[in-house]
Amino acid sequence: MTIRPGDIIATLDIGESAVRVVVGHKQGGGVEVIGVGTCRAPGRRASETVDMEGLVDAIRMAREDAETMCGCSISEVWTGISSRYVELAERSTIVPLPEGRVTKSAIAAAIHACERQLDDPTRMVLHRVCSWRVDDRAGICDPEGLTGSELELVARIALTPARGINLIKRACEKASLIVAGVMLETFALGTSTLHHQERTRGVVQVDIGESKTSVSIWRQGALVYNAAIDGGGRALTEHVAAVLRTERDEARRVKERFACALSEQVNPNEMVDVSTWTNAKDVVSRLNLAHVMEPALEELFRNVRRQIELSGYSDAAAAGAVLTGGTSLMPGCVTLAGRALGRPVRWGAPRGVAGMVDLVREPTFAVGVGLLVEASRPERVRTFCQVSVPTNKTKWKAAMLRLIERIL
Ligand SMILES: Nc1ncnc2c1ncn2[C@@H]1O[C@H](COP(=O)(O)OP(=O)(O)OP(=O)(O)O)[C@@H](O)[C@H]1O
Ligand SMILES: [Mg+2]
Repeated sequence: MTIRPGDIIATLDIGESAVRVVVGHKQGGGVEVIGVGTCRAPGRRASETVDMEGLVDAIRMAREDAETMCGCSISEVWTGISSRYVELAERSTIVPLPEGRVTKSAIAAAIHACERQLDDPTRMVLHRVCSWRVDDRAGICDPEGLTGSELELVARIALTPARGINLIKRACEKASLIVAGVMLETFALGTSTLHHQERTRGVVQVDIGESKTSVSIWRQGALVYNAAIDGGGRALTEHVAAVLRTERDEARRVKERFACALSEQVNPNEMVDVSTWTNAKDVVSRLNLAHVMEPALEELFRNVRRQIELSGYSDAAAAGAVLTGGTSLMPGCVTLAGRALGRPVRWGAPRGVAGMVDLVREPTFAVGVGLLVEASRPERVRTFCQVSVPTNKTKWKAAMLRLIERIL
């Protein structure tokens, strides 16, 4: 099958622990995964870029792996931004309709008036959800052409520091990639892991990242709450490193292979050989590891529960909670989360794509897959924030850089 370059979409998830590229091929209204590339990311700490060169290398390696797998070249990516730096604000405005109907310019004037209320050159509008009223008709999604004398807009706006976006853009450009659009990670997670009914009934989305855990709440189909708390996989790794008296990277591998979130699920006599991963110890009791993981995760989920209560939407999340992020892979984690949060919890395996689905089955790919689904739908593309409009000049520059890279 020949794949036309215009039908290729690539997404980039810049996580603190890893950079992930997912490549998709638009086909028959859907998208099929044709390649992935992952590289551990030494360049990020608490969602901030601390080592630009390290991050650029990681993006480049993930891109090259994905390109090798799919046999196609990628020049632009759709990417996400962590909820840690995103603030949701609600603003409203009323504009008169002198022509007796809602025109494009009245819509633009209302949006402009809402965004002007948040005027801050250091922050960018990442996303905007609009609810319109024309005279006494409220809750309208698209008011254009409706007749009336007054138009009201209630806009829920996601803002992010311009600095963060510019850093991502610069890192991508250095890795010869153009950023086609940026989206709040939470939206991408919602697209790939939540069912329509869950978003309508009310659901909590918990993504345990490397050093932060994001807690988002959806209700009546909309994202109503989005926050990030400290704590994630890194803290658990550090606990294991302390027990084994070993390096963090070795401890991480032992944790990913042998840790369990619930001590009751572990055979008390089970000893595991960790000599392949660490020189410090040969064998370790899995129960000891679980005894370290369990209280740490209980504390993390207690904090998540507190955050849900603080949101004011605790009773609104009737559909329970959905768990994603690398730590959710730990055996027993979902059960422990259910107990600690006092509500049903399920694992958020990404879905909505075809092709090489086995490559993106784990919840660590939920952001990448969600971005892919969103970017493949023409009607959804406008929900991305465009940070650099790919012109012929930028495309040409990216192509030249790639050529030089290959020659070198
Ligand atoms: N099988 C596993 N068992 C336990 N922990 C795991 C497993 N797989 C991955 N992890 C842990 O998940 C963490 C990384 O999670 P994830 O990949 O979701 O973070 P990230 O997306 O890179 O970071 P962030 O979203 O915070 O920027 C690491 O601490 C890693 O050790
Ligand atoms: Mg992540």
